[in-house]
Formats: sequence, structure tokens, C-alpha cells
Amino acid sequence: MERVQKIMAEAGIASRRKCEELIKEGRVKINYAIVKLGDTASFSDKITVDGKLIKKEEKVYIMLNKPVGYVTTVSEQHGMKTVMRLIKVKERLFPVGRLDKNTEGLLLITNDGELSNRLMHPSKEVWKKYEVWLSKPFKSLEKIKKGIVIDRVKVQPRIKSIRGKTVVLEIHEGRKHIVRKMFGNMGYNVTKLRRTQIGPLKLGKLGKGTWRYLKKYELKGLMFKR
Ligand code: URA
Repeated sequence: MERVQKIMAEAGIASRRKCEELIKEGRVKINYAIVKLGDTASFSDKITVDGKLIKKEEKVYIMLNKPVGYVTTVSEQHGMKTVMRLIKVKERLFPVGRLDKNTEGLLLITNDGELSNRLMHPSKEVWKKYEVWLSKPFKSLEKIKKGIVIDRVKVQPRIKSIRGKTVVLEIHEGRKHIVRKMFGNMGYNVTKLRRTQIGPLKLGKLGKGTWRYLKKYELKGLMFKR
């Protein structure tokens, strides 16, 4: 048994909070009886909103090659375009984690809250790979190897390659602006940033601004990630 608002949100009706409002407004019924906030039910119950039966929504998993200029929120605020504009599907989806407006590359988009929580949980943060372009050649290998302290927490990336002004690295955490802050701390400006991998999931040759559904083996890889 689950709270009715949780079942409604999973069915793609609206966010959990919005669903609570619908319940408070008396618009939700189970087997013809009006639901009260706090009531529980299961998917086999006949739950209706404004008389319309709700159905469990299929789980959807999408990878997007995010272009620069889009924010990774669901609703548009302050006139900023969100990545959700680039994906036209009937399900209510959300991005897993965040990328800065001026970061491009791999973004996972889904309606699977459980997988999202699992991938984002601090104790289970997966390794993410980034290509970093700098304003000058990178010459601080020893420093970065020792780890860079950002807001009193040490970040220890895995350096994959260094070629002049470009660095490829993997990082195990998801704090806001973490890559830019790390290089800023060492005296470098990041001029371009692209994420190419999340755990076992690779961006590959997906065109900028385009998306595709994950393949079965890709999803399995993410599901069984630790
Ligand atoms: N680190 C950043 O600084 N920005 C991103 O978008 C992702 C990681």
C-alpha cells in the first residue's frame, strides 16, 4: 500500500505536491469514495481524478546530448529554456541530476524516481566522465592528483588524459559547478565542458540536441551499478 499521492505521481498525473492539492480539493476517488490526504491504496484500486481512471505509467529512460543554453529543470523559470523542450514524449519525465546551462553532453531523463535517487545518492554517486577545455594549457597534474578542496570537502578526480588545454577526467560526486570550481581553484578558466559518461552509460555519437531511448543492456548496466 502506498499514499495515494505517490501512486498518482507515479501514474504521471502531476508532482506529488500537486497531487496532494487535488486530493484536498476532493477531486480524487477510490472506488467512488472521496480520498482524504493520508489515505493509502494500491495500483489495483480504482483511483479516479475528476472521474478519469488513472493507469500506471510505463518507465521511460532517455539519453539526451544536451546543448549549451538549456537548463536542466522541468519547469521554465526566468525565461530560461529547459532541456524538456527538446524531448516530446507523453510521459512526465525529469532529468537525473543537473548540468550547468553552459555545459553540454550526456543527460539521463526518466520518470523512474527510484533509479534517479539511487544514481544520485551521495553514498552511491557514480563516476561521471567529463571533457574539459581550459583557457590555457594544464600544468597542475601533481596538484589535482593530490585532490582539490572545494567548500571544505576534498575532490579527487581520476585523470584520464591531458592534451594541452584539454583534460579528460572522471569524478565521483555531483556538487553544483564542481568541475568548474576545481579548475578555478587551480587558476584555470573552463571555456567548454562536456559530460560523456555516467557510470557505464556512454554518450557515443548521439548528435547535439538529440535524444534516444536507452538500450536494454544500457539500462541493465545502470540498474546494477553497485
Ligand atoms: N561540474 C560543473 O562544473 N558543471 C557541470 O555542469 C557539471 C559538473
